[in-house]
Amino acid sequence: MWSASSLLTRRGGVLLALLLLLSFITMMSDAASSSSYRSQTGWWDEVTSLPGYRTQNGSSTLPSRMFSGYVNLSSDHNVLPPALTDATSMFMHYFMFTAEDTSTPAPTIVWWNGGPGASSAWGLFVENGPLLLTEESVLSEEDVQQLILNPYRWTKHANLIAFCNPPPIGFSYCLPAGPTGNGTACGTWNDTRVGIVDAEAIRIVVSDHFPALAQHPIYFMGESYAGVYIGETVQWMLSNPTTFAPVLAKLAGVALGDACLGSDVLCGGASGPYPTLLFFYGHGQVSTELWNWLLTQCTTTELNGRTQSATCTAAINKIYDAVGGYYAYNLVDQCTSDAFSSSRSVSQKERRQKNAAAAELVASSTALGSTIPIPEENGYWCPGQIFFEYFDRADARTATFVPLNSTFFNADDGEGMSYVYNSLSVMPAITALLLNRNPAINQGRPVHVWAFDGDEDPSVNIFSTQEAWWKYATSQTFQKTKEWSSWVINGSTIVGGYSTEWLNGTLSFVSIRGSGHMVAEYKPASALAFLQSFLKGTSLPPYVAPPPSMEGRRRRKNKRTSVNARRRFPSSGLSKDL
Ligand SMILES: *[C@@H]1O[C@H](CO)[C@@H](O)[C@H](O)[C@H]1NC(C)=O
Ligand SMILES: *[C@@H]1O[C@H](CO)[C@@H](O)[C@H](O)[C@H]1NC(C)=O
Ligand SMILES: *[C@@H]1O[C@H](CO)[C@@H](O)[C@H](O)[C@H]1NC(C)=O
Ligand SMILES: *[C@@H]1O[C@H](CO)[C@@H](O)[C@H](O)[C@H]1NC(C)=O
Ligand SMILES: *[C@@H]1O[C@H](CO)[C@@H](O)[C@H](O)[C@H]1NC(C)=O
Ligand SMILES: *[C@@H]1O[C@H](CO)[C@@H](O)[C@H](O)[C@H]1NC(C)=O
Ligand SMILES: *[C@@H]1O[C@H](CO)[C@@H](O)[C@H](O)[C@H]1NC(C)=O
Repeated sequence: MWSASSLLTRRGGVLLALLLLLSFITMMSDAASSSSYRSQTGWWDEVTSLPGYRTQNGSSTLPSRMFSGYVNLSSDHNVLPPALTDATSMFMHYFMFTAEDTSTPAPTIVWWNGGPGASSAWGLFVENGPLLLTEESVLSEEDVQQLILNPYRWTKHANLIAFCNPPPIGFSYCLPAGPTGNGTACGTWNDTRVGIVDAEAIRIVVSDHFPALAQHPIYFMGESYAGVYIGETVQWMLSNPTTFAPVLAKLAGVALGDACLGSDVLCGGASGPYPTLLFFYGHGQVSTELWNWLLTQCTTTELNGRTQSATCTAAINKIYDAVGGYYAYNLVDQCTSDAFSSSRSVSQKERRQKNAAAAELVASSTALGSTIPIPEENGYWCPGQIFFEYFDRADARTATFVPLNSTFFNADDGEGMSYVYNSLSVMPAITALLLNRNPAINQGRPVHVWAFDGDEDPSVNIFSTQEAWWKYATSQTFQKTKEWSSWVINGSTIVGGYSTEWLNGTLSFVSIRGSGHMVAEYKPASALAFLQSFLKGTSLPPYVAPPPSMEGRRRRKNKRTSVNARRRFPSSGLSKDL
C-alpha cells in the first residue's frame, strides 16, 4: 500500500456516439497541425487536443504542448545489459507537457508514482499536471468526462514528464506479448532493474527525443515507492557517469514525497510498528489511556523492532481494533467514492446532481479552460476511477497515439506483476548527490535532496519519515542549519507545514500540513508553493506572526475571520487550515 493505486480495478469505458462524433470533429480540425517523430530510440507524437478539453471560446488548444511517446529499450545502441531486458523488446510509454511560460527556458521535472506498479500518468492527471480527471470531471448521466484545468499545475513552472514505468505499466509494453499483454509480460522486476531501465529511458528522452531539455536543469520528483525507483535510477547513473553525462550535468535536485528509501531504511518494517502507532495516537485516534496501557504491554525494543512477543502483538491488535476504519492514504479524506476503496460509494443520484452543478459551473466560467472550483468540504477533488475510465476510451487513446487494444496495466505493491524487492537502502546515492563536487554533475555543486511528507498520511507516515531522515542526517554528521519551523503559502500567513534544513538547505525535510500520501492531489496550493521553492533552491518562506493586536482581534472575531478567510481564498481549499 505504498502508492496511488490499489485503484487497479477498472470499469469498462463507456463509449458514446455523441462523444465519438465530437472527438472525430476535434481530431479532424486538428489533424493538420499534429506532428510525428521517429528515431531508432523510439517514436513520439504531439497531442494537439484531448477529448473533453475545451477553452471557454471553444478552442481545443491545450494549455501547453503535449507529447505522447514510446522509448524503444530494445535498440542495440542503448546501454541496457542484455540480461536486463529478459530477452524481450521493451517499449516504455511517456507523456510530456511542456512548461506554459515559454519566455524563459524552463527546467524539466521527471515525475514518478510508486507502487511498485503505479503508473506515473495517474499522478500527471490526478495530482500535478495541467489537466485533471476527477469525479468533478463527469458531467452528465452518460459519464462524459471533461478535463479540468488545474489551477495549481506544475507546468506553470516546468516541463513535466511521466513515464509509465516499469513496462508493462500503463501503456508501456513488451514483445512478444505486445500492448495487450498482462502484468508479467516484461519478465521479473526488481528495484535494480527498474533503476537501470528508468535511467536509460530518461537518457533517451532527454538527449534524443527532446535534446533541448538537456540544456536546462533537470529534477527527479516522485512519491511513495518512487523513493526507491529514483534512488536506484540515480545510483545507476552515478555508476555509469559517461553514459549518463547529459542528464547528470543538469541534475539539480531530487524530491521524494512520503517516500520509501529501501527495506532497511523505510518501508519493509525496519522501524517496527512504533511510528504508525504513534501516528494514530498523535492524531487523536487512540485514547491516552489505551496508549499508556500499550506501553506497559510492549518494550521499546519490541515497538521499534521487527519482532514482538505474543503479549505485545495482542496489545497492538487491540489498538488497531480501536482505531477501526481509516483510509490508508489520507486519515482525513472525505471522498465518498475513492479510487482506493470499494466500500465507500456515492449514490448515482448524488453523483448526477453534483455533475449537473459542475456542468453549470463549466458553462458559466469565463476563465481559460474548464475551471471548476475545488470543493470546499474536501479542499480537493475526489479522483474516483475517472482516470482509468478516460484512458479506456477509444477517442482518448486515438488522441494520444496509443494502441486501441492496449491493456492499461497498473498495480500497487507489485500485485499482478513479478516483483522482487531488493533495494536495502538508497541512502548511498542520496549522500553522493548531497556531497557532490564532481564538475560533471550539476557543475560541481551539491544536488539538492528534499524530502516532503503529508502529515495526514497513515501509510508512509510523518513519524517514520522523520525517524529515517534524522537518523540519516545524524549518521552523516550533517550540520543542521535550520530547526523545525513553519512555512507559509504564497506570502500569506497560511501555514503550509514545517521544514528543517541541513547543509544550508541542500538537504531539507518539509511537511505538508493536512495532506495525505499524494501531496499534490490533497494540498495542491501547498504542493505548488513547495515546488516553487524547490526549483529556486531557496528556503520556504517562514511564518511571521501577525502583530499582537491583530491576534487579539482575530480571537475575538474568530467566527467571522474564518468566514472572511474562506471568501478571500475561494478556490484554494485552505479554509480548514485557518
Ligand atoms: C480562444 O482563447 C484562447 C485563450 O483563452 C486564445 O489563445 C485563442 O486565440 C482563442 N481562440 C479564438 C478562436 O478566439
Ligand atoms: C527497436 O529497436 C530495435 C533495435 O534497434 C529495432 O530492431 C526495432 O525495429 C525497434 N522497434 C520499433 C518498434 O521501432
Ligand atoms: C535483478 O534483476 C536482474 C535482471 O533481471 C538480475 O540480473 C538480478 O540478478 C536481479 N537481482 C536480484 C537481487 O534479484
Ligand atoms: C499473463 O500472461 C501469460 C502469458 O499469456 C500467462 O501465462 C499468465 O497466466 C498471465 N497471468 C495473469 C495473472 O493473467
Ligand atoms: C493490437 O493492435 C495492434 C495495432 O495497434 C495490432 O498490431 C495487434 O495485433 C493487436 N493485438 C491483439 C492481440 O489484438
Ligand atoms: C499567490 O498570490 C497571488 C497574489 O495574491 C495570486 O495572484 C496567485 O494566484 C497566488 N498563487 C497561488 C498558487 O495561490
Ligand atoms: C552555510 O553557509 C554559510 C555561509 O555561506 C557557510 O559559512 C557555512 O559553512 C555553510 N554550512 C554548511 C554546512 O554548508
